[in-house]
Amino acid sequence: MRFIDIGGIDVPVIGQGTWKMGEDRSRRHEEVAALRLGIDLGMTLIDTAEMYAEGGAEQVVGEAISGQRDKVYLVSKVYPHNASREGIPAACERSLQRLGTDHIDLYLLHWRGQYPLEETVEAFERLRYAGKIGRWGVSNFDVDDLQELNAPACATNQVLYNLEARGIEFDLLPVCQQQRLPVMAYCPIGQGGKMLGNAMLKQVAARHAVTPAQVSLAWLLRQKGVIAIPKAVRPEHVRLNAQAAGLQLEPGDLEALDQAFQAPQRKQRLAMV
Ligand SMILES: NC(=O)c1ccc[n+]([C@@H]2O[C@H](COP(=O)([O-])OP(=O)(O)OC[C@H]3O[C@@H](n4cnc5c(N)ncnc54)[C@H](OP(=O)(O)O)[C@@H]3O)[C@@H](O)[C@H]2O)c1
Repeated sequence: MRFIDIGGIDVPVIGQGTWKMGEDRSRRHEEVAALRLGIDLGMTLIDTAEMYAEGGAEQVVGEAISGQRDKVYLVSKVYPHNASREGIPAACERSLQRLGTDHIDLYLLHWRGQYPLEETVEAFERLRYAGKIGRWGVSNFDVDDLQELNAPACATNQVLYNLEARGIEFDLLPVCQQQRLPVMAYCPIGQGGKMLGNAMLKQVAARHAVTPAQVSLAWLLRQKGVIAIPKAVRPEHVRLNAQAAGLQLEPGDLEALDQAFQAPQRKQRLAMV
């Protein structure tokens, strides 16, 4: 596993997403087992949010990290409608309860909402001072949002980024790289959808005797300052994802992927799911 520095802490470049976990009680056992397997394989960064299954995903994470909290770098997110002076500490406390821990390593604003950014930042800083969170960051922030935020203390920007959604390469990614702001790529394997069926992607994968999903992760991770947080419940997916950190793509592979998935030629509004 390779590591990247987030606010002075080394975290693995591949973490584990948790969206859609905690929605179905009968799947809880396999979800907890998947996260535990991922931790064992070095994917110790876990990304969750109060939004996922309305707290259900945080409960799954809480169970998975029970007894091994110190091994894990925990990321959670606050709803924009809770991102006020009073709302943030209350939301954080609820998340901590569900996660069964006394601190979140990285706490993100899930997307921009109605509260002024200064108010949200002030509330984040108070939580940091109180030791409830290690660092704070944002999600779904485009270049103009980051400019308005203008906060060197922001530790990451989590955005949609995969082979099919390359819009950030035009401006947001270079801006983040210049500012040494790590980019956390969500939906890194296109939610396991049609992207993985692309013929060129399959060819590149076959050349390396790996899977299209592994190529799509390696393609993201070849870049400076990029972290990927695939979500996987099936144990074979968890294993394949962990192995992808070691895959090196060659210039010919990158050319082929550029042909199949066009890089942006102009500014595109930041896409979200
Ligand atoms: N900040 C935001 O606004 C935001 C938005 C979306 C997502 N996120 C975060 O980013 C994480 C990742 O995004 P995502 O869950 O939407 O999509 P994703 O990680 O791109 O795709 C997840 C899907 O791909 C499948 N999969 C996983 N590994 C695979 C592999 N090696 N080969 C083939 N299929 C594989 C999974 O199946 P199984 O589960 O069956 O294994 C699941 O159906 C989320 O879970 C969440 O934590 C953040």
